[in-house]
Amino acid sequence: MPAALDAAELRRLDRDHCWHPLFQHSQLDGATELTVFDRGAGSTLYDSDGKAYLDAGGGLWNVNVGYGRDEICRAAFAQMQRLPYYPHSQINEPATRLAAKLAELLPGDEVHGNLSRVFFTNSGSEANESAFKIARQCQRQRHPGQNRYKIIARYQGYHGFTMGALSATGQVGRRTPYEPLVPGFLHVNPPYCYRCPLKLSYPDCGIACVDEFYEVIRREGPETVAAVIVEPVIGGGGVIVPPDDYLPRLREICDRYGVLLIVDEVITGWGRTGKLFACEHWDVVADMVVTAKGITSGYLPLGATIVTDKVFAAFQGTPGDGSELAQVCTYGGHPPCCAAALANIDILLRERLWENAAEIGAYLLAGLTAIDSPIVGQVRGLGLMLAVELVEPSGALLNAAQTGAVKAALKSAGVLVGQMSHAVIGPNSVLCLSPPLILTRAEADQIIAAFHIALAAGDQS
Ligand SMILES: Cc1ncc(COP(=O)(O)O)c(C=O)c1O
Repeated sequence: MPAALDAAELRRLDRDHCWHPLFQHSQLDGATELTVFDRGAGSTLYDSDGKAYLDAGGGLWNVNVGYGRDEICRAAFAQMQRLPYYPHSQINEPATRLAAKLAELLPGDEVHGNLSRVFFTNSGSEANESAFKIARQCQRQRHPGQNRYKIIARYQGYHGFTMGALSATGQVGRRTPYEPLVPGFLHVNPPYCYRCPLKLSYPDCGIACVDEFYEVIRREGPETVAAVIVEPVIGGGGVIVPPDDYLPRLREICDRYGVLLIVDEVITGWGRTGKLFACEHWDVVADMVVTAKGITSGYLPLGATIVTDKVFAAFQGTPGDGSELAQVCTYGGHPPCCAAALANIDILLRERLWENAAEIGAYLLAGLTAIDSPIVGQVRGLGLMLAVELVEPSGALLNAAQTGAVKAALKSAGVLVGQMSHAVIGPNSVLCLSPPLILTRAEADQIIAAFHIALAAGDQS
């Protein structure tokens, strides 16, 4: 290991050479300083000065089992020593065991089949790219003579940063600088009941927003539509939990028109919402599930696209007929990453962390909801996936300066949260919480106490 650099030297090198995501670098010419994070343990991070922060953002929605889990590190290290790499054109034990584990854990039913076939990638974006390609090829091979290629997603949804995944993403500020995007992606309104885009209210609305899928499929022509993609609970777009009948209705609509349902569980999977996978809340079986993030809790990068045996069957042909999946990912099925995932999943299952997410999530939701502040519009969430939407007295989203003051005050109080970014037109004043699923009641109290202080500071700024 090279000798450790001190924080000032790191900041100097970083300022000259690193390009940080979603960050205006000119801020580094003023008082803004990025934090040098040094180490983590449990739900806590320590900066280069030794100051502790409760990581209520859970990294980037992904550190589900918390920091400092040696058994994940040992599993990855042992695998690196034994066999660091061979392409997944052949077999390696961790990838095979992980695929079998995913097949065991994901649901299935008679109509849609079993989610039993896994294609590995490095990230959620790539896993979504793979899902789109699988959907298009599957539909063309299922329906020769038709050209089912369109993918319908939702405004405010997020599916990744690569061009296909970005095309599915419905967040205007992330898309515009990179247009034109990939053709064939369409969007409908999200089930954002707090600010219903259709100006309706649940349940009288009859969930009109889900019927937009039906409308778009009918108007575009079902013979042109390959798939629908949704996050069960929209994450970065502001933690939007759908009404209970939303996903089952969407499943019905897809079934009626032979459209594949892709469920992006990149954030919601692995216990985050209080079930192992969020789809279980509504008993919905997808045709494809996309996972990443919590599959390794961030210890190493990994993504996976899991499809049903029925989808996979469309790829069965004879060698040379071109019906096989025509893509390769150099690091797909990477042995140490899969070994880390297996160790991470062992922890999740052994400690039944989705149960803690449900219990502490409900406690945290109640505690945050009980805060009486004029700048809180709504507190919402499911399990340990929560949001606090900040508002002006008019009800509009709170201005950026006050939102920034709340976030900074939370950080000074030792609590790190996420923030919706580039997702809506106007200020992105929704603070997002996605702490490790090991969060204790005392840590939840610490988050609630920090919000009390920070909201008071934000209200006065
Ligand atoms: C729902 C969802 N899908 C896909 C992605 C993309 O994953 P990655 O950043 O690993 O490419 C993200 C990342 O935040 C996500 O939240």
